[in-house]
Amino acid sequence: MSTSTCFDALRAALRADLDFHGTNGSYGPHAWHPFPAKFPPQLPRFLIEQLSAPGDVILDPMLGSGTTLVEAVRLGRRAIGCDIDPLARMIAVAKLTPIDPSAALEEGLTVLSAAQRDCWQDGHRLRQDFQLRFDGKTADFIDYWFLPQHQIELFSLLKRIEALPQGSIRDFLSVVFSSTIIAKSGGVSLARDLAHTRPHRDMKKAPASAFVEFAKRLERNVAAIGNGMPHETEESSHLSVNGAMDSSERNCQAEVRAASAADTGLPPESIDLIITSPPYANNAIDYMRAHKFSLVWFGWNITELSRIRAQYLGHDALSDKEYQNLPDQCQETIATLAERDARKAQTLRRYFGEMATVIAEMKRVLKRGGAAVIVVATSNLRGIDVQTHKGLASIGESAGFDLAGIGVRRLDRDKRMMPARWGNQQSSQIEARMHDEYVIGLVKS
Ligand SMILES: C[S@@+](CC[C@H](N)C(=O)[O-])C[C@H]1O[C@@H](n2cnc3c(N)ncnc32)[C@H](O)[C@@H]1O
Repeated sequence: MSTSTCFDALRAALRADLDFHGTNGSYGPHAWHPFPAKFPPQLPRFLIEQLSAPGDVILDPMLGSGTTLVEAVRLGRRAIGCDIDPLARMIAVAKLTPIDPSAALEEGLTVLSAAQRDCWQDGHRLRQDFQLRFDGKTADFIDYWFLPQHQIELFSLLKRIEALPQGSIRDFLSVVFSSTIIAKSGGVSLARDLAHTRPHRDMKKAPASAFVEFAKRLERNVAAIGNGMPHETEESSHLSVNGAMDSSERNCQAEVRAASAADTGLPPESIDLIITSPPYANNAIDYMRAHKFSLVWFGWNITELSRIRAQYLGHDALSDKEYQNLPDQCQETIATLAERDARKAQTLRRYFGEMATVIAEMKRVLKRGGAAVIVVATSNLRGIDVQTHKGLASIGESAGFDLAGIGVRRLDRDKRMMPARWGNQQSSQIEARMHDEYVIGLVKS
């Protein structure tokens, strides 16, 4: 696309109705696993249709649960995504891998009955294996959050899943397993509010058996495969993701990378369009706090997970790094905040500083005439609206992007998972702000 064509198309797209209220965003694999602040699939889909052509390469450098990638592949584009969060990558890989629903159901039921049998017939040995699997800190975490009965049920399911050959069914069943833990109710753990990422231990809770939950979610996720998928066009149907498709055809149209958005490792000028949404500026959604409930089962230990957590954009761990040359828009907000809370001001400096590196990386990998669309909500820190969208737009301009505009979308609270702490402040100004989301449109000339 020429720069001016892209600029005009982006301007028009940003003026369109981007709310997508009343549409079903939980079709196909999008319904498989909760993920905080995930896109309604209609949003990346609309932008991809307006701003790229079949065969183009679409990047989401903070892919989350892979919504952009799934929609890109469904529209016949090639898709690349990066994320530092192992659970995000696990979910995205599964969602992007075509799978045969009846084989998935059959294998899932076989795993379930074998795990139940292992538990009943060989419980003692399972317990011994269990002791060997986790280090002290991770075992303490599991003991605190999961009842002994559920620990052993989960472990037996996991061992049966791990015994399957690498591939689409194992990936799919791993996501089913994870969705028994990460659920609004806190799933099979003793946590409440897990999907909202602010877990509380509730000793009065009687979590359902892991076997019962696995059976339920297996059935639900199998039913969701291809369910309610919007109509495929003829040229894109052969690339359908998790619609009816030959399961032997692994999806080679998508690539999921364990990499930071600040350093994707991609060649320069190799991407046609970027669509992404970074974390909030105030670390409002602490992804790892909830994700570790699932990841500990997949071999990640608590120490490693804490290390990854400190690398999240927007994390409030202080860093020694100096972030210079931020645009005036950002400097002014940081200075105003510093008058009220010096530490929070430093966190915000870190966020804008890291986002400056991420946006520079986007510019490096994007082709000339390509667009980068960044979707973000603003944050309220110590009573100050930090206007994250304006800060990021000005960072984009100082990186040499042309700003095509900033679109606004009203969040549908029922659809997009928001941090729980806002949920109790129905009428506050903060809540009103968190309902708005901004769509920043940048073009590389
Ligand atoms: C708002 S979520 C993205 C949700 C996604 N749009 C979806 O539809 O599921 C933000 C993502 O940024 C990721 N993230 C945070 N810091 C990152 C970094 N340094 N590099 C890459 N991804 C990062 C988080 O793990 C999280 O998955």
